[in-house]
Amino acid sequence: MKKLLIASILLGLLGGLAVTAQATPQEDLAELRAYFKNRFPNTPFKDYINGVYSIDPASREEWEEIEEFPPYELSISNGKELFDTPFANGKSYADCFVNGGIGIAERYPFFDSNSGQVITLESAINACREANGEEPLKWQKGPIADISAYMHYTSRGNIINIQVPSDNPAALAAYERGKNHFYAKRGQLNMSCADCHVYNSGNKIRADILSPEIGHTTHFPVYRSSWGELGTLHRRYDGCNKQVRAKPYPSQGEEYRALEYFDTYMSNGLEINGPGARK
Ligand code: HEC
Repeated sequence: MKKLLIASILLGLLGGLAVTAQATPQEDLAELRAYFKNRFPNTPFKDYINGVYSIDPASREEWEEIEEFPPYELSISNGKELFDTPFANGKSYADCFVNGGIGIAERYPFFDSNSGQVITLESAINACREANGEEPLKWQKGPIADISAYMHYTSRGNIINIQVPSDNPAALAAYERGKNHFYAKRGQLNMSCADCHVYNSGNKIRADILSPEIGHTTHFPVYRSSWGELGTLHRRYDGCNKQVRAKPYPSQGEEYRALEYFDTYMSNGLEINGPGARK
């Protein structure tokens, strides 16, 4: 009896410890910002939207030249045209979004309590299509990337402020799932996202300097020279998981949506500057 009691007191204590040891999203964010402030003292916070170019002056010059004639410009105008084209039933994308879909990209992703799901902008675009009797678009590139690029373009300069409501355990669980994805080792190389984009940010891996985690989502979708076209954030996640020889997850599946929720939360306070151009 006594033993049992001690065991349960111990368990209770451990349980209590485990709960207090779990940082809140606000604490995670403050810790990561402080980490990068210390690691890159010369990078102003608002410059993290520029990824690796915020910490590497040498490649920045080259990139600024590319941005003078942005390779994603055609995608924006194509995205606008698609966005403005009515569906067969006469409705359009504008009918599915607040403010007609203009200047609202920074609100995504958000946790939708009704469906219990993280809603990303791309998932909302396809949900809009399906609600109007249209086929969903392919997730990673092409029309969905163009529409997303146009919508982000209309949000340029707007500040990201993703919420993880503390009174909503399901939202917190989605955030934690994304955080776990980010910090868990995976693949044959047994590396986590954080190994490259936190602990080795600024270091070189093969021909690339590794970008900091903060600001990772602000400029998507991205025109990558190596893709020769525009791609979504989940396409990039795939590429990074393949780099460590891990099996990628389905685009817009629960795992990547949770990752995007965490990832974008870590960009809170920064401007949307998508679409962007990257090597
Ligand atoms: C082996 C190292 C490595 C790992 C592990 C890795 N990445 Fe990357 N990642 C890169 C490289 C290299 C690039 C291109 C250079 C850059 O911008 O950092 C990149 C780029 C990115 C970008 C685009 C940055 C931008 O400014 O456009 C995102 C987003 C990203 N990674 C997310 C992730 C996520 C999420 C994970 C975990 C699933 C991950 N990465 C794991 C190496 C890695």
